[in-house]
Amino acid sequence: MKIAVACDHAAVREKEAVAQFLRDSGHEVLDFGTRGDSSVDYPDHARPAAEAVGRGEADRAVLLCGTGLGVMYVANKVKGVRAALVVNPFLAEMSRRHNDANVACFGARWQELPSILTLTETFLATPFEGGRHQRRVEKIDPR
Ligand code: RB5
Repeated sequence: MKIAVACDHAAVREKEAVAQFLRDSGHEVLDFGTRGDSSVDYPDHARPAAEAVGRGEADRAVLLCGTGLGVMYVANKVKGVRAALVVNPFLAEMSRRHNDANVACFGARWQELPSILTLTETFLATPFEGGRHQRRVEKIDPR
């Protein structure tokens, strides 16, 4: 898969580790930064990554900030994007199965890196169930 990644200064180490994990798993990574320690505004990195998903240039995105909330709010403003705050294995799976989530969001200030990697793996491996959920997902975007 082609996977966009982005973060703010609170999650650079975790974003780099996620990017490496994705490459090692055979995915192509589109890195929207940030890269250094300097303080940045999370929308400046999360929005272009989410837009890449919205335009179909990336299949999924993994976005990280301190809480995971800021990047999730930004991503969910982008047409065609369904971003989930992936707090545990149940949501990693169900956000895919029932909601066809295409962006996974994590908070580096409260989630441990091994857990972020495991949840990312589950998120990417779980299929959308379609069926009755397809109709519901189609009703999410404003008309
Ligand atoms: C940055 O200090 C912090 O506010 C940001 O990483 C994120 O948690 C916002 O939602």
